[in-house]
Amino acid sequence: MKIRLGTRKDSIAIKAIDSSIDSDPNRAALIDVSLKERAIRVALDDSKIIGYSIINNSFFHRHTLEILMVDESRRREGIGRALLRNAQAELGDSTELWTSTNESNKLMQSLLESEGFERTGIVENLDLDDPEIIYFKTLEK
Ligand SMILES: CC(C)(COP(=O)(O)OP(=O)(O)OC[C@H]1O[C@@H](n2cnc3c(N)ncnc32)[C@H](O)[C@@H]1OP(=O)(O)O)[C@@H](O)C(=O)NCCC(=O)NCCS
Repeated sequence: MKIRLGTRKDSIAIKAIDSSIDSDPNRAALIDVSLKERAIRVALDDSKIIGYSIINNSFFHRHTLEILMVDESRRREGIGRALLRNAQAELGDSTELWTSTNESNKLMQSLLESEGFERTGIVENLDLDDPEIIYFKTLEK
């Protein structure tokens, strides 16, 4: 597996593996804007995109992992963990990384906690009956 910066040519392939593309009306536009801003990193098997991450400053202008997504047919192979580690490695001088996930998303919580992320807050009412859990990690530089 290889991880590289996403380019505009990757847009269709990224959207094709995103399991939330149909349910999230903002997702396709977020992907296109993030590609333009060089904020997407893609995981590749040969030349096929099998996962991606978006890192931006969307949470209170802090370095934020906004999206982590792995092709449904390729989950539980360590691709999510590899993208998460790559996100941390690519942060330059920044010493912290923030992210969030729904209370119902036990897989993401398990991944984050196993990588040393701490729960640091909760936001109610974004999704009905499914609070958003905020996580952060202090990075060793
Ligand atoms: C969350 C997600 C990114 C994990 O990606 P992945 O490539 O399957 O995860 P990995 O194989 O790297 O697994 C890393 C850890 O996550 C946890 N995990 C992942 N899938 C799991 C499963 N089916 N059951 C239990 N734990 C799981 C485990 O702690 C696992 O570590 P382990 O294999 O050493 O036990 C993936 O499930 C996904 O794309 N989900 C949909 C999008 C999403 O919810 N993104 C997060 C919010 S933006």
